[in-house]
Amino acid sequence: MLAAREHWGSRFGFIMATAGSAIGLGNIWRFPYIAGENGGSAFILIYLAVVLSFGISLVMAEMVLGRATQRNPVGAFRALGGPRWAFAGGLGVLTGFVILSFYVVVAGWTLAYIVFMAGNELATTESAVLGAHFGNFTSQTFAPLLAAAVFMAMTAWIVAGGVGKGIERASKVLMPLLFVLLLALVARSVTMPGADAGLAFLLTPDFSRVDMNTVISATAQAFFSLSIGMGVMITYGSYLQRDVNIPRSTLIIVLLDVGVAVLAALMVLPAVFAVGLDPSAGPGLTFITLPAVFASLPFGQVFGVLFFSLLAIAALTSAVSILEPMIAWAVDEHGIRRGVATLVASLVCLLLAIPASLSFGPLSDATLAGRTFFDWMDFLANNVMLPLGGLLVASFIGWRWSGPARAHLSNDGTLCLPWLSAWIWLLRIGAPVAIAALVWQAVGGS
Ligand code: TRP
Repeated sequence: MLAAREHWGSRFGFIMATAGSAIGLGNIWRFPYIAGENGGSAFILIYLAVVLSFGISLVMAEMVLGRATQRNPVGAFRALGGPRWAFAGGLGVLTGFVILSFYVVVAGWTLAYIVFMAGNELATTESAVLGAHFGNFTSQTFAPLLAAAVFMAMTAWIVAGGVGKGIERASKVLMPLLFVLLLALVARSVTMPGADAGLAFLLTPDFSRVDMNTVISATAQAFFSLSIGMGVMITYGSYLQRDVNIPRSTLIIVLLDVGVAVLAALMVLPAVFAVGLDPSAGPGLTFITLPAVFASLPFGQVFGVLFFSLLAIAALTSAVSILEPMIAWAVDEHGIRRGVATLVASLVCLLLAIPASLSFGPLSDATLAGRTFFDWMDFLANNVMLPLGGLLVASFIGWRWSGPARAHLSNDGTLCLPWLSAWIWLLRIGAPVAIAALVWQAVGGS
């Protein structure tokens, strides 16, 4: 019953779509404030080490599973490991629902902030006023949900278009636009008077602020940023033709992802220092601190609109990739039409987004063990489900399927990959140990 599977139209399209998945709110919203809280460049160096070892290994592992089977995560695990392994893919599909439901809430805020910036509603350098504005907006019942719904509709519209005419075509336009916007904003930020304090903060590593928690945050951030652990890379890999050089493509994608994260830090932190604000402002850095920066700049309103557009674009190509595995599963495994599957999955995510959004307002007191509904989804996805998904992929390839995986990654021995054994051992031992430490710390420590 397997209809001919759609494939990426070109290597460029594949790389833009996959980099589009990786580059998202994780890079532009989350990375700068996490780096700001963890001592700047010391954190960045650790992050690079994690990404270039475990990160790259796991991205390649997922892509191999996808391309070898030409299936969605559930079908891929079932085809190679038998029915007992299908749950590993199922976990990924489930994780997608959880992540997308809170991702669209924050993505909706970025859409709203484009409107606020354009309407000149944030023209003040007073952090207290901007903080109140952020609080007032996010605690409303309907406005943030409406924004999330608009964002979900944009995501669904792209996914419903299919792999080539939807995802690939959108990524080929949106990603280059993102790079241009980002470079323009970095240029603006580092040339602000006083930006050198921020550059110094970013370029002189302060290892005194590094401890085990820093390493664990870096690992969790790497997973989220590289879209590892829920089968996105399996699904995107399943649309690959046989002859693509997976290691080389992975390296390009990972370097783009890291590059954008570092550039985002270079865009945000020098500007924050230049106007004398606090770099460790946490999640509010983007929505509270940056508008104060824009308000103090000539043409700041324009830069503000560009910045939040950049954020929305990054979020859009990522949200598309979180939605796609569920759709691929419904289409491949159950023969459901793509349009129908997209509609149903999007509505389910929106339904789950309601309590996530209300966690900042009417439901802010509805907590369990100190966490709101939003916090729980975020915590479960990032600290439990994604690591577990990564662990299953690593163990499956490392212990059950290492021979064929080696052959497949090297395109049946036609690529010379001297590090193949190191890759397998990293998946067998390294990744499970690192992941177990992460989950242990998250569940016990916090
Ligand atoms: N990587 C994206 C970001 O940095 C988010 C994302 C997309 C993601 N697909 C994912 C996270 C799959 C985890 C799993 O914002």
